[in-house]
Amino acid sequence: MTNQIIDQIKLLAENNRSKFIEMRHHLHANPELSFEEFETSKFVKNQLIKIGITDIEHVANTGIVALIKGKNSEKKVIALRADLDALPILEQNDVMYKSNNLGVMHACGHDVHTTCLLGAAEILFNLRESFEGTIKLIFQPGEEKLPGGASLMIAENVLENPSPEAIFGQHVMPLIPVGKVGFKSGLYMASSDEIFIKVIGKGGHGAMPHLNIDPIVIAAQIIIALQQIVSRMASPIIPSVLSFGKINANGATNVIPNEVFIEGTFRTLDEKWRFDAHEKMIKMASLIAEGMGGKCEFEVRKGYPFLRNDEDLTSLAKHGAIEYLGNENVIDLDTWMAAEDFAYYSQIIPACFYRLGTRNEKKGIVSSVHTPTFDIDEDALNIGVGLMAYLAIKKLSN
Ligand code: NI
Repeated sequence: MTNQIIDQIKLLAENNRSKFIEMRHHLHANPELSFEEFETSKFVKNQLIKIGITDIEHVANTGIVALIKGKNSEKKVIALRADLDALPILEQNDVMYKSNNLGVMHACGHDVHTTCLLGAAEILFNLRESFEGTIKLIFQPGEEKLPGGASLMIAENVLENPSPEAIFGQHVMPLIPVGKVGFKSGLYMASSDEIFIKVIGKGGHGAMPHLNIDPIVIAAQIIIALQQIVSRMASPIIPSVLSFGKINANGATNVIPNEVFIEGTFRTLDEKWRFDAHEKMIKMASLIAEGMGGKCEFEVRKGYPFLRNDEDLTSLAKHGAIEYLGNENVIDLDTWMAAEDFAYYSQIIPACFYRLGTRNEKKGIVSSVHTPTFDIDEDALNIGVGLMAYLAIKKLSN
């Protein structure tokens, strides 16, 4: 049964190879920013209709949810997710499918994810007599922008009626050679919160510090002290990162400014510690500022939660990938302190977020995501399409 279904999927993927490449070129050439995926959403809907799928719904404005029903469709439901949005980056690739939307680019591979899910949809619809249960296709908007399209889709009940018992998502990974995929069981990606600190002192002449309250010295103390929250107060077994990337003090060699602005990011993999840490940071910064005669305003803009890959589901997916691609093409990944809004699904139902290799050094395809020269080896498309289809069927028959 396993071998037969794999052969059928591979054949369908191979027969549609040029169509998938064309789809990806269309999406890549026509990127849209987060929550503005109007044309992308129409394109997805039209493709689903062309496949023959009729159960299609709009969720969260530009999001699309569709159902593929196999035999005994009530029996079991699983979900597959792709994201639709692009980034505000000016593309520097010289390719025929270069972005037509100046300053907007699919630099995080969401064109690839959308193509892979559309491709998987085509295969699964063709094979719907070969499996039992329902596959829910989730095309979500706004992965790159807070509050995250996943949270909006969930608020609009995407995980209900029918409720999937598991969800898979895949993401391109330019560090992994094309042909391979990567998995990490358990804690995988971090929560991510933005920190904005305003340190308020009293400016004046640099020659007379005793008449002023120097916010730069206060800011320096705060930055050093806050590092002790991650090095001394965080449990050593919970990964935590606090980085400040921006300090703005508009004084001069002889001018002490009134205020200093500090911006940074806090990332971790534990929801309780995450919120404890926010409180500790606010208290420490405020007390330091106060102790030095100044004041401090501390804002935490909450981002996505951490992403946990369900152990059982990830084990099933990894074994599925070994069956589909061979042992040598499935690798284990480390925890990764970047954030991803797929995490919202993983907080609610068993989820597995895995990586699709897209790198090809010989062809010079090595650029990182979120850069103006990011691209993929398009041999990854058939793997992304076929593997997703196979994992859906494997989970339904589990
Ligand atoms: Ni992404």
